[in-house]
Amino acid sequence: MTAKRKFILGVTGASGAAYALRTLEALARAGCEIHLCVSEPGRRVVEMETGLQLAPDLSDLAELIDAPTENIRHVALDDFASAVCSGSARFDGMAVVPCSMRTLGAIACGHGDNALHRAADVTLKERRPLVLVPRETPLSAIHLRNMLELARAGATVLPACPGFYHKPQSVADLVDFVVARVLDALGVENELVKRWPEK
Ligand SMILES: Cc1cc2nc3c(=O)[nH]c(=O)nc-3n(C[C@H](O)[C@H](O)[C@H](O)COP(=O)(O)O)c2cc1C
Repeated sequence: MTAKRKFILGVTGASGAAYALRTLEALARAGCEIHLCVSEPGRRVVEMETGLQLAPDLSDLAELIDAPTENIRHVALDDFASAVCSGSARFDGMAVVPCSMRTLGAIACGHGDNALHRAADVTLKERRPLVLVPRETPLSAIHLRNMLELARAGATVLPACPGFYHKPQSVADLVDFVVARVLDALGVENELVKRWPEK
């Protein structure tokens, strides 16, 4: 039997809770184990954008998705003893969806002050896939510099920037466009969006 693939999913306080929930759902449906780390602003944005109030331990976040939830583990932001904070724990990669400019900056300068930042730092140093989904516009020179720094360090900077050539019919189609690219970057098989024909 092949081992379950294990990913860290960070959710921060940028707009786009739908991207986070759909990524969580898609990873869970793919049978992955997910270590979920949500910043306090991230929780606030999820609440604002879904209209729901979440439990303090976020145990009910998984109820917002349509997928098996037994492989979702919650990581507290102050739990530096968590497996996600250690390079010796084996993970297949990490995505931060959506990624705020604050978290982007913290990861870019290696100055993390929570378990999510530390997990991203570890993912980079262990040279595992790190996918960051920033959502901000317009971008300042500081944002752009941080993104360049991260791309040079090996991260995939994948802005929440859906295309329109697949003729989206709904907001869900636009969300799936971005989430499909996140899963592709993590190496997780998915058929969220019809692919451009390969000749
Ligand atoms: C409703 C709401 C929407 C926000 N949207 C964004 C955003 O799209 N991008 C961003 O970088 N910050 C956004 N912010 C600001 C971040 O939440 C704030 O910088 C916070 O400190 C980020 O912390 P975190 O990275 O630990 O989640 C938003 C804040 C709120 C309340």
